[in-house]
Amino acid sequence: MEEYDFDQIQQQFSNYVIGNYAREPVAFVRGDGSQIWDSEGRQYIDLMPGWGTTTIGHCHPAVVSAIREQSARLIHIDNTFYNIPQGVLAEHLSKKAFGGKCFFCNSGAEAIETSLKLARLWGEERGKSDIVTMEGSFHGRTFGAISATGQEKYHTGYVPLLPGIKHVPFNDDVALEQAVDEKTCAVLLELIQGEGGVNLVDIDYLKTAREICNEKGALLLFDEVQTGMGRTGEWFGYQNYNIEPDIMALAKALGGGFPIGAVTAGAEVAESLRPGTHAATFGGNPLACAAATAVFETIEDENLIASGREISTLAFERLQMMKDKYEIIREVRGKGLMIGIELRDQGKEVFEYCLHNLVRVNCTHETVVRLLPAMNIPLDMLHKGLDILAAGIAKAQNGTL
Ligand SMILES: Cc1ncc(COP(=O)(O)O)c(C=O)c1O
Repeated sequence: MEEYDFDQIQQQFSNYVIGNYAREPVAFVRGDGSQIWDSEGRQYIDLMPGWGTTTIGHCHPAVVSAIREQSARLIHIDNTFYNIPQGVLAEHLSKKAFGGKCFFCNSGAEAIETSLKLARLWGEERGKSDIVTMEGSFHGRTFGAISATGQEKYHTGYVPLLPGIKHVPFNDDVALEQAVDEKTCAVLLELIQGEGGVNLVDIDYLKTAREICNEKGALLLFDEVQTGMGRTGEWFGYQNYNIEPDIMALAKALGGGFPIGAVTAGAEVAESLRPGTHAATFGGNPLACAAATAVFETIEDENLIASGREISTLAFERLQMMKDKYEIIREVRGKGLMIGIELRDQGKEVFEYCLHNLVRVNCTHETVVRLLPAMNIPLDMLHKGLDILAAGIAKAQNGTL
């Protein structure tokens, strides 16, 4: 493809791309592991690779070669027929998770949409249709997903939303107990609210949620779009708590950067998704499934869950030291390589400082600096990235940002 400089890229976007994203004035053109290069040749350390999609690093050779090989064989075949990569991927996913069966789609929002539809179908057979979700949650941008999302700012301009969804305070078992009744078909939650500010679920709350669902005959749905695929030190976030869902939604890291979403459901629940009830033209596409299978194999072959845990321990040690030093840090929280550093203020300014100094992080909810580094980031790179972050935080503290 022709080389463009940043001004040309920006001009083209300004002329032809809808402006729904607040973009930083940088265009990335290449990635390798935890490094990315912009159009002007600057090299960055990426502590937020692909918004959490590339847990095994950018352009992992195994993913690149699986895509190359499969794209030369068969890019797409519709679901009127069987294809090999879809079945292979479903087996990996089912065996690594809680058994059951899989449905494939293209994104996290679609995986949530599918989970909600499956819960409604399952509920219809039992006279139940209500869904309970959490305040502060984020589930994506389709109508079903924003209706499930418990943050008003995502609803603005889109009402009326999908009816039959109640939001309750996160980690409040009394509120959950009151909200779930005989009409409830599902309770949906994230184990760590990512976009919501890296808020961890309490283990006791999760146990209670499982019990309430069992008691009231409702399904428990986990949105593992961000927490799945090794992010939290286990294949899936729920494995940290030993509490299984009935339905799990995945996307982001599943394809190593290639777009794919998935839903896994216990075999009995999955039965409700009968022919004609739901579909996705590209869902389970051979190319996407080959990429995702390469991700499963790479995580296993390179022992990345264990390496992610080690990196996490080092990262939290350093961040805790930063917290002890800088009063501006209110809290450091997270699990595995899903990390939030809550500042008292200036989150956005720290993000900008890091970007200016060639380190990519994220800031959510104005004050929470979020890191989602790859499970194979080299330690010297991690430390270099954290040095820059620490320098940004020090400047924020001294009022010199
Ligand atoms: C927990 C969670 N669910 C759903 C989504 C939506 O995923 P997508 O943007 O792929 O539709 C996201 C995206 O950030 C997410 O973090």
